[in-house]
Amino acid sequence: MSVNTIEHNRTRQNFDGVSSVWLFGYGSLIYKVDFPFLEQQPASIEGWVRRFWQGSHDHRGTREAPGRVVTLIEQPGAVCKGMAYRVSPDVFEHLDHREKNGYLRFSTAMTFDDGRQEQGLVYIATEDNEAFLGHAPDADIALQISRSVGPSGRNDEYLLKLAEALRHLGDDDPHVFAIEAMLSA
Ligand code: SIN
Repeated sequence: MSVNTIEHNRTRQNFDGVSSVWLFGYGSLIYKVDFPFLEQQPASIEGWVRRFWQGSHDHRGTREAPGRVVTLIEQPGAVCKGMAYRVSPDVFEHLDHREKNGYLRFSTAMTFDDGRQEQGLVYIATEDNEAFLGHAPDADIALQISRSVGPSGRNDEYLLKLAEALRHLGDDDPHVFAIEAMLSA
């Protein structure tokens, strides 16, 4: 699949007659909220883990020297914590542009911290996108993150802000916190 997903996402869901949509964010969408929303709820989704396995060409690295950002990897029984936003469907034009480097919108069930459940969308960069980097030892990921920078800023800033936001949510994500510890070591 081509790395730019804007056109793919445009035809994935039909928002005709829909006044609002829940969006689940698990990476930068937790801490960089540059879009309007109607409501916000700490939430989680089941069956996925957060991993720094997606290459970033357009935000935290370049095509020649990609940074690493998070995507979701399927893992039965796992729970991924994040933030859910209820947004107007027209917000997806901005979000599709922001998440264009390999992320596709998928439908997901989400559970809010108060127990309420909703169906919504989540951006996932699957392993068939050209920017996907996949697994690497934590130390290698930390080194790549410490060296990368792109149009949205330093890659380590992405990691540190995500770690801080997860702590705020009361999440204990061993993958993110292990890489954070190596960065500051
Ligand atoms: C997300 O935050 O939900 C998607 C990945 C990212 O933008 O970091």
